[in-house]
Amino acid sequence: NEGSLWGGRFASGPAAAMAALSKSTHFDWVLAPYDIRASMAHARVLNGAGLLTPQDLETMLDGLQRLADDVASGAFVAAVSDEDVHGALERGLIDRVGPEVGGRLRAGRSRNDQVATLFRMWLRDAVRRVSVGVLDVVDALATQAAAHPTAVMPGKTHSQAAQPVLLAHHLLAHTHPLLRDVQRFADFDTRAAVSPYGSGALAGSSLGLSPEKIAAELGFDSSAENSIDATSSRDFAAEAAFVLAMTAVDLSRFAEEVISWSTPEYGYVTLADAWSTGSSIMPQKKNPDVAELTRGKTGRLIGNLTGLLATLKAQPLAYNRDLQEDKEPVFDSVAQLELLLPALTGLTATLEFHTERMAELAPAGFTLATDIAEWMVRQGIAFRVAHEAAGACVRAAEARGVGLADLTDEELAAIDPSLTPAVREVLTVEGSISSRDARGGTAAVQVAHQLGGVRATAATL
Ligand code: ARG
Repeated sequence: NEGSLWGGRFASGPAAAMAALSKSTHFDWVLAPYDIRASMAHARVLNGAGLLTPQDLETMLDGLQRLADDVASGAFVAAVSDEDVHGALERGLIDRVGPEVGGRLRAGRSRNDQVATLFRMWLRDAVRRVSVGVLDVVDALATQAAAHPTAVMPGKTHSQAAQPVLLAHHLLAHTHPLLRDVQRFADFDTRAAVSPYGSGALAGSSLGLSPEKIAAELGFDSSAENSIDATSSRDFAAEAAFVLAMTAVDLSRFAEEVISWSTPEYGYVTLADAWSTGSSIMPQKKNPDVAELTRGKTGRLIGNLTGLLATLKAQPLAYNRDLQEDKEPVFDSVAQLELLLPALTGLTATLEFHTERMAELAPAGFTLATDIAEWMVRQGIAFRVAHEAAGACVRAAEARGVGLADLTDEELAAIDPSLTPAVREVLTVEGSISSRDARGGTAAVQVAHQLGGVRATAATL
């Protein structure tokens, strides 16, 4: 079993199907730069413990640097005989510095503490990249909100016309969950910033090595308090998979709306050519594929999270090979978001809103009925009575096939004597919207304030 990390007690090498099952180089290769960085830190710690002469350290660091360059250039790649990235890199190091020096690096560490550390390093970098992409979507939404400070639209509940709102208010509603997702990524990082290196296979190292030193050198806040926990727990990966999935779910809610809004039945938006696709048979088609792929891939990210949780469930301490299954779902969730986020940013930034169409629909479906009731309450009427009266207005308007504002003074007075013509001040979309001026409401002054807050929060992340 020449060249493997564990040949000594075996008389023969693995069967072909065993090796094929075991192999992970096709996905764990992305850990290679992190593996080499950690090996450099480990070599220094070995030297500090008197287990590597200064001269050997120099040789080893030089070999590791050349190996890093060759990995980056693609000159060094996994061989068919390599089980995983860790074994492959040891082979590469020995190729470069010989077995006498190269064979010393592995002292006091195990692939179990290595892989747990490297996965954390990779993931901490990855969620930073994803966070930047999410903030780009937030910025595109905020910019659209700023460009449409007075445009109105029908706000909905149950997909039914509810109350008119500002388009900017609606767009900003999508920025808040996304900002919270970015905050969740930052929060994840505080727990992921603990290094398992030095935990060995499970019990820690006996060679007088310093886990704290390696942790600091690799950018961690601290080293693990319990070597068994450090080598076997993957809640950090599940936490990241959750925030990645939650981000996709939040994006999918906006995507779903873009899909509806771009239909001729809605007619709210036109998609830019660059961010839509055509049909191979129907020449007239312009399809919202970015939004649909967002919606579709969200299912995949949810699957990655639930699959990982199922893998982790009921695993006994400490490391089990099951844990090799932890990486692909998380890598995939990151990769999918890295594809989606720039496209969704481009789609959002170039949406052309048809504000006259949205304004026309804003009062449809009697969306000002609540305003009548609340106007009556301001005149001193009990809300229960006012609700009944406003409902009667809807019934009367519906029977005549007109809008609430088209009811005559006589019709209004007949429904309730308190319904004087003064009620007409709230029977416009603009009047309704500007009356909702408490914090968080849809009045223009509040939405402008909110936009400032969204931008200020995004700038801190
Ligand atoms: N490739 C493994 C993983 O991703 C690390 C190797 C640990 N293997 C072992 N036999 N202890 O988890």
